[in-house]
This record gives sequence, C-alpha cells and structure tokens, in this order.
Amino acid sequence: MQYPEYRPQRLRKNENMRRLTRETRLSVDSLVCPLFVVPGSKIKKPIASMPGQFQLSVDYLVKEAEAIRELGIPAILLFGIPAKKDDLASGAFAKKGVVQIALSAIKEKVPELLVITDVCLCEYTIHGHCGMLEGEAIDNDATIEVLGETALSHAKAGADIVAPSAMMDGQVLAIREALDEGGFESTPIMAYSAKYASSFYGPFREAAESAPQFGDRKSYQMDPANSDEAIREITLDVAEGADIIMVKPALSYLDVIRRVKEEFDLPLAAYNVSGEYAMVKAAANMGWIDGERAMMEILLSMRRAGADIIITYHAKEAAEVLSR
Ligand code: PBG
Repeated sequence: MQYPEYRPQRLRKNENMRRLTRETRLSVDSLVCPLFVVPGSKIKKPIASMPGQFQLSVDYLVKEAEAIRELGIPAILLFGIPAKKDDLASGAFAKKGVVQIALSAIKEKVPELLVITDVCLCEYTIHGHCGMLEGEAIDNDATIEVLGETALSHAKAGADIVAPSAMMDGQVLAIREALDEGGFESTPIMAYSAKYASSFYGPFREAAESAPQFGDRKSYQMDPANSDEAIREITLDVAEGADIIMVKPALSYLDVIRRVKEEFDLPLAAYNVSGEYAMVKAAANMGWIDGERAMMEILLSMRRAGADIIITYHAKEAAEVLSR
C-alpha cells in the first residue's frame, strides 16, 4: 500500500479513532512506587533534588502506603536509611533495622500492598559502597553472604519480594539459598540484573544518603556501552533463580529493555531512576516542558520498549492521571 491509496492519517483523525488503534497501554497495574524510610517519628523531609519525594519515618510511611493502596498501585519498593552506618553494614540485616521495623508496620496496617525491599549495603556502610571492602576493592564473596542474610531478615519481617541491587556476582544464588534455608522458598527475587554505572542515580544518593565516599561503582555496575553483557548478566541471574529481571536505568536503555524482552520470558522490570525523574521535574518547573505529558510519554515508552513492570517516583501522579 502506498500514498495516495494508503493514508496513515485516516486512523489518527480523532481521539476515539486513536484509542481504538492504540498499540500500547499504560496501566496502574504495572507501577511500583519507591519510598525512603528513616528512623524516628513525625519526619517527612523533602528530598531537594526530587520534588514531591520525601524521607519518611515509619508513622508517615504507613500513611503513604495507605494512600498508595487507595490509588490502586500494587507495590512499593522500600529503601532504608539507618540511624548509624558501620563497616559491616550491620544495619542492613538487624532484626530491628529501619527496613525491618517498617515492614512489620506496613504489613500490620496495609497487608495486601506488596512490599519489595531493596537489598544492598551502600546505605549501611560508612564508605557508601554496595559491599564489603578488602582495602579499596569490593570483596564480592564476602558481600553475597551478607546480602543473603539481609534478604532473609527482610523476608522474616514480612517482605513480599526481595530485590538485590548490589551487582555482586552470585548474589541471586546466595539470596535464593539463604531464603530457602530459612523456610522462605516462596518469596520471589526481583533481580536488578542489568544495572549500569549511571550518572542518573545522583538524586537517589542524596535521598538514600548512599554516595560512595571514594571512587565510583564502575568495578561492579555495568558499563553503559554494553548490551551483550546485559544478556550475559541476565542469563546468570535466571540460572541462579531470579523470578523477575530488571534493566536500570530505563530511559537511556530502552534498546536494552527491548532486547531483553525478546530474549527472555520472565517478567521484566524497568527502573525509571531518580535522575530521570529530576530532569522532568526541573524542566517542568522552568516551564520548558509540560511535566504531566512528559511523564506519561516517558512511562509509555518503557511499556512500548517491553517493560512489564515500571518502578517510578511518578507512580502516584501517573496513577491519578490514569484514573481520570
Ligand atoms: C542501591 C541503589 C541505587 C539505586 C537503587 N538502588 C543507587 C546506586 O546504585 O548508586 C538508584 C535508584 C535511583 O536512582 O532512583 N545500590
């Protein structure tokens, strides 16, 4: 078919014509809302680089979880900022750690909301790296033991899904074994499988107080130039027992999302990270873009690329738009 017989504009004529022929749909069912929990009470501290996002104490976190449930969002992703950091990251797996306490509180008040916990050590170590150090280098094998212990402590406290984000080799297997030995063989793992060493995590590190005190994360997170390597990373995670796989960040990696969707048949998550959120908020605040339209276009692009699940700081706003 060719012009003038074929005219693509015929199917774009009006909103109902466009609705009828639309290929991709965004739904609240896909959304996961990240939240940051801090020790204490009555704390709702704005995160400057992420307008609309806060560090919350457990009392306010529970209220936020209720609001998220009311919007129909199925899950939150929980990050903890401990009262004290140490070299052993002991706050990560403490029975009364900030995430563990938050889990019990949410599970008591909003039991059906899925709570996914981020399993990493960077918020809990003084040096801010994602694992244990040997000198200035990451000690991978010591770290995965601690990640296993951390994931198990989350499961015991009520986590519905654990999500390892440290990019340590063998972390999914170590966590699967720890969970199974602890009697949590039915707790799924959402693996941050292809996580790149990205500039777009900047605002998050303010939010989670987790910036590395020296060096960078390039020896364990992926090189942004690589996509074959993403396939290798995901192949390993699937073999180790991942139930859900993830590509992170999302926006600069839509090609990777598409490729992963074509090569694997597990549910695929995309993480629309802090810097991607901050850019939209900043430009909208300047009046340079329509923030709401940009948000919906960006989230839709992730679905179109192949993401089944979208982790996004826009979750509440997007859910509101979708319910209109
Ligand atoms: C922990 C972790 C990070 C993010 C999620 N888990 C930061 C990092 O790796 O430096 C980033 C999330 C975001 O930017 O929104 N390792």
